[in-house]
Amino acid sequence: MIVLEGATKRYGGSTVLDDVTTSFGEEGVVSLIGPNGAGKSTLFGLVGRLIAPDAGSVSVDGQDVRMASPGELARTIAVLRQDNHIAARLTVEDLVEFGRFPHSRGRLTSVDRDKIEEALAYLSLGDLRTRFLDELSGGQRQRAFIAMVLAQDTKYVLLDEPLNNLDLKHMTEIMRLIRRMADELGKRVVIVLHDINFASTYSDRIVAMRDGRIVADASRDAIMRPEVLREVYDTEVEVREIDGKPVALYYS
Ligand SMILES: Nc1ncnc2c1ncn2[C@@H]1O[C@H](COP(=O)(O)OP(=O)(O)OP(=O)(O)O)[C@@H](O)[C@H]1O
Ligand SMILES: [Mg+2]
Repeated sequence: MIVLEGATKRYGGSTVLDDVTTSFGEEGVVSLIGPNGAGKSTLFGLVGRLIAPDAGSVSVDGQDVRMASPGELARTIAVLRQDNHIAARLTVEDLVEFGRFPHSRGRLTSVDRDKIEEALAYLSLGDLRTRFLDELSGGQRQRAFIAMVLAQDTKYVLLDEPLNNLDLKHMTEIMRLIRRMADELGKRVVIVLHDINFASTYSDRIVAMRDGRIVADASRDAIMRPEVLREVYDTEVEVREIDGKPVALYYS
């Protein structure tokens, strides 16, 4: 499990993650929701050790992340960041190969090659494998990054807004895929989402943050209530039941 105990992060005078105690990483899909600036990416940064906490601790499977070697951590947790700035001109294949680095250290074994092929196939990237990342559409590029994370073959997969830049079809496709990664491959997925209807449809648990704190943590049905969503987002949200499922309406 990924356990945060009193995790706190401050920048100057402002506390952006405020004494957060929680755990993630059970089987299935957990969605992390909340308004811009709530602290979602900061929380992921702490877990992936991209950011050091000012107080509190983060542990993964009982080990403090600050004590783990970088390789060890990267073989256990994969974090897809919200902004992927890849400077070099890489092909899809190169990127996915890069995901194997914690295992291969740059010398690919047959197992590494198999994992790369599996990830490319899983994301249907076969035809695009030799394309450069800057020759892809936003959605294709997003798929390539998810393939990279999949090739890393970790127990925990954290995805920060993986639906960015995707059209309706591809959003749905990616969410189904994430669900399958959990159900078929046993990945323990935590995903930051802004569309609460996707969160509601595809996750087992929803954690809502606001102002650096967790303000709700419950099953879909308990979160998908107007009073809870109003509290999280500070905006009016209607919830209707369609085919027995709660659907949030926030367009009007
Ligand atoms: N390096 C930094 N220096 C100063 N403030 C920062 C820094 N990184 C993040 N913050 C602030 O911390 C707060 C939380 O940011 P964070 O990126 O975790 O939010 P978020 O919930 O991921 O938001 P979004 O939905 O917009 O991605 C924000 O107010 C942000 O401005
Ligand atoms: Mg963010």
